[in-house]
Amino acid sequence: MSHLLPGTSAPPRGAAPPRRGLEAAHEVAERPDQPGLFLALAPMDGVTDAAYRDAITTQFEGRSGVSLCVSEFVRVVDRPVQPKVILRHCPELEHGGSTPSGVPVFVQLLGGDAAPMAESASIAAGLGARGIDLNFGCPAKTVNRHDGGATLLKTPTRVEVVTRAVRDAVPSQIPVTVKIRVGWDSPAPIVDLARASEQGGASWLTIHGRTRAQLYRPPVDWEAIGRAAAAVGMPVVANGDLFSPEALRRCAAVSGCESFMIGRGAMGRPDLFAAARGWRGQPLRSFEIARLLLAYVTRMRAQQMPTFNALGRLKQWLRMGAMQREDLACWFELYKRERELCDVIAAIADHSRPPASAAASASLGNARAH
Ligand SMILES: Cc1cc2nc3c(=O)[nH]c(=O)nc-3n(C[C@H](O)[C@H](O)[C@H](O)COP(=O)(O)O)c2cc1C
Repeated sequence: MSHLLPGTSAPPRGAAPPRRGLEAAHEVAERPDQPGLFLALAPMDGVTDAAYRDAITTQFEGRSGVSLCVSEFVRVVDRPVQPKVILRHCPELEHGGSTPSGVPVFVQLLGGDAAPMAESASIAAGLGARGIDLNFGCPAKTVNRHDGGATLLKTPTRVEVVTRAVRDAVPSQIPVTVKIRVGWDSPAPIVDLARASEQGGASWLTIHGRTRAQLYRPPVDWEAIGRAAAAVGMPVVANGDLFSPEALRRCAAVSGCESFMIGRGAMGRPDLFAAARGWRGQPLRSFEIARLLLAYVTRMRAQQMPTFNALGRLKQWLRMGAMQREDLACWFELYKRERELCDVIAAIADHSRPPASAAASASLGNARAH
């Protein structure tokens, strides 16, 4: 990876310099089979729980192509969060901090107050977190009203202060990373924000190429990501609207980045990480994505998720994937009003038969009818 990415900048304060750059990520990931591209699965609150992370990363017998996962955000308000809250968001901590197929999971913290953020990070590190990611991009009004997420983009020095406090609170071998948007209501401060993250000691910076004001509206601004990447020594991970290998190539050309984070794209193209590495050709077929959905439900049930919540999360996958695939759009329309998880599972199990066996069973059905 080092030959692909810009070098690291001067080590921050402290005796043992913290590990910087995506080399650190590749060390954390311990995936010599995945040289080159760094492809992270984006955190998505209400979606990318441990069951989802497991389902995505165990695809293709563990050769999913995912370098790293990040937990859904853990909200830090005015006091450090309890270990049980961190463990609820990141149960992988009880198994070495990686998914069952060995992909490391960073714990994401969200908050604007340096002291409890630092203490929470220290608790997460004590629980075995492989890395700490700081969320300065969340656009939710309730979060922003309480001085968290994207609110900090208005004041780059606050990004620096919180990052520095967290960096100083966790052992140097644990990467501290930062995730931002390009700005609050304009991409003008993106370079200052990137520099602030670096000054704070971030190992790398992930940028979603939208302002907070844009929410999820187009266009995504990969150029602004490129301006930030050019201004700092640490690696920058590009994020936003990466829905296909072609989009990844275009984003690389525009931003100059070689590291990417994929969020919604993983619902329509769970194979995208492997496809971007050239390990897979065509997108998953309908029966394959149906099988993946069943695997997801099995994992949610294994984790004792209440049936109602599991149904909601399954529908959420269908809803978000519907923007990218006709089959998911059709299934979402068919099942969005279903109230029983078992009914949706039965319907998806039907879709999970490969076409040949579906045809065979159809003719068997006809034969029985005669
Ligand atoms: C439903 C949803 C929940 C999200 N939750 C988080 C979160 O917990 N932490 C975070 O940093 N970003 C969160 N995001 C933002 C994504 O990580 C990502 O930056 C954004 O979706 C753009 O990437 P994409 O176009 O690949 O989806 C969320 C996005 C969505 C759609």
